[in-house]
Amino acid sequence: MPAILVLNGPNLNLLGTREPATYGSTTLADVERLCVEHARALGYTVDFRQSNHEGVLVDAIHEAGRAFKEGTLAGVVFNAGAYTHTSIALHDAVRAVEVPVIEVHISNVHARESFRHHSWLSPVAAGIIVGLGVEGYRLAIDALARRAKG
Ligand code: DQA
Repeated sequence: MPAILVLNGPNLNLLGTREPATYGSTTLADVERLCVEHARALGYTVDFRQSNHEGVLVDAIHEAGRAFKEGTLAGVVFNAGAYTHTSIALHDAVRAVEVPVIEVHISNVHARESFRHHSWLSPVAAGIIVGLGVEGYRLAIDALARRAKG
């Protein structure tokens, strides 16, 4: 069964208790369950990860690029958290590999502070899902599964 990498950046480990008015009360473990169940129904496994460290996320994108080339990975669902708005390293990593990356944000970043309006990932992402809560993860998995079927 091919896999989908669901990659989460800084502070998303605090989901459920972090600013619930903005991010809701769903925990990251709940999001993992949602992703695993939804992907399984579509014939995919999920490799679910979270890191607070930029370099670890860069390494994960490189690894995803290799797996995509080998045909074992359909793509990446990527909520890079605040690194979205700051990380040229993550932009370069996604640009450097061929794996499709769907950028996801739980909150509508465009309705928030102006520093969240720019994304270094959007220009290199295969698609972007913003502001639909954790449902965005499910939609991103759908998009990757559809894309993989051609
Ligand atoms: C976020 C939005 C980012 O601006 C923020 O830094 C996050 C979460 C979201 O999912 O809405 O950590 O990516």
